Amino acid sequence: MNRDLGRHAVIGHPVAHSLSPRIQRAFAAQTGDRIDYTVIDAEPADFAAFARGFFKTGGVGLNVTVPHKRAAFECAAEHADSAALAGVANVLRLTADGVIEAHNTDGSGFMRDLRERHGFEPRGARVLLLGAGGAARGVGFALCEAGVEHLTIVNRTPQRARALAARLGPPAQARPWPHAEDAPQYDLIVNATAAGLHGQSLALPGALLTGAPLCHDLAYGAAAQPFLDWARAAGAPAVDGLGMLVETAADSFAIWHGRRPQTEPVLRALAR
Ligand code: ATR
Repeated sequence: MNRDLGRHAVIGHPVAHSLSPRIQRAFAAQTGDRIDYTVIDAEPADFAAFARGFFKTGGVGLNVTVPHKRAAFECAAEHADSAALAGVANVLRLTADGVIEAHNTDGSGFMRDLRERHGFEPRGARVLLLGAGGAARGVGFALCEAGVEHLTIVNRTPQRARALAARLGPPAQARPWPHAEDAPQYDLIVNATAAGLHGQSLALPGALLTGAPLCHDLAYGAAAQPFLDWARAAGAPAVDGLGMLVETAADSFAIWHGRRPQTEPVLRALAR
């Protein structure tokens, strides 16, 4: 179609290795469109000024990543339901009225990856969510909405797990970090902690893997490896967050441009 889709960026800290430019350019190319997509490394203190300046000078869309998802929510004047529920945002766009609108595609992208790529239906499932930060929020809301039997949230700092469970309401519940003698069975274990990003492993009892639950790390690459290794060593199926990343990116493209691009060819190219 040869349209010029305008100026976009991903903003995070650190963000240099983001795959978002590659993904968004591939989406645009599917219909012969051009997209201007850059990477912006901004300190937390600079985020709001940067985002406002970006839109004031003609920017069309922003993807927002760690650690700015809460700040992205706060700098927006309008909030789609997805962001209002989660209280954090990973997509910003400028509305026709010229106001910044926040969205959260973490939950929808995670669900699509889970159901369509990995054939896992969360309705009625027993789910363990590791972590209670920005990533856990979006995914936690989507899992509750999908009708899981229970969503057990554990976190290094227990009060954050309790706060998230209270915000989500039943079927979410906060529990202390699991130990070998206290390891109920789960159908799905989601790692939403940043431990792997810091090169750290989680101390988790192998008993959690009895029954071979699907283990999903929201991170990808080296950051996901310790969790994937832990699961696979016990014979449990384990997947990283690359598929989710491409799905969340496709949802953001659809928010900006009204067309949901194909994800499978882009994911295959990235995996190569
Ligand atoms: P994000 O937006 O990626 O979720 P975040 O809001 O900083 O980032 O949250 C990071 C999550 O990873 C938190 O749940 C954090 O636990 P705390 O609330 O105790 O900080 C968790 N986390 C980070 N490093 C960890 C580690 N080494 N072990 C366990 N949990 C860790």
